[in-house]
Amino acid sequence: MAGHETSVNLIAGGALALMQHPDQLARFRHDPGVLRSGVEEMLRYVGPVQLTGRVALEPIDVGGVVIGPGEFAMLLIGSANREPVGLRRP
Ligand code: HEM
Repeated sequence: MAGHETSVNLIAGGALALMQHPDQLARFRHDPGVLRSGVEEMLRYVGPVQLTGRVALEPIDVGGVVIGPGEFAMLLIGSANREPVGLRRP
């Protein structure tokens, strides 16, 4: 499941994003030099893994909220790739 879902969603999301941005599709088709960075950008732009979880082993302060040992935290890692407008720094 880990390898299938992620790959399928990256290919499908990446293909859709390219179709929605024909200028980028043209670059992807005609310039082999952007293939590697293009796939990296797809991982950011349509990241197939939006969240994951972790159990804290020791107390950790996240923005003033302490997560204690043994507590579970759901990490919305997808948001790191799409910084919310309200949090953008000047
Ligand atoms: C675009 C494709 C893929 C993406 C975006 C992706 C993403 C990720 C991410 C983010 C994790 C860390 C999850 C976490 O620690 O919470 C992970 C772990 C893992 N992935 Fe992938 N993955 C991809 C493809 C694959 C494939 C093809 C396989 C197997 C054939 C695979 C097998 C695994 C395994 C076994 C782990 C656990 C590694 C560990 O914790 O030691 N992944 N993947």
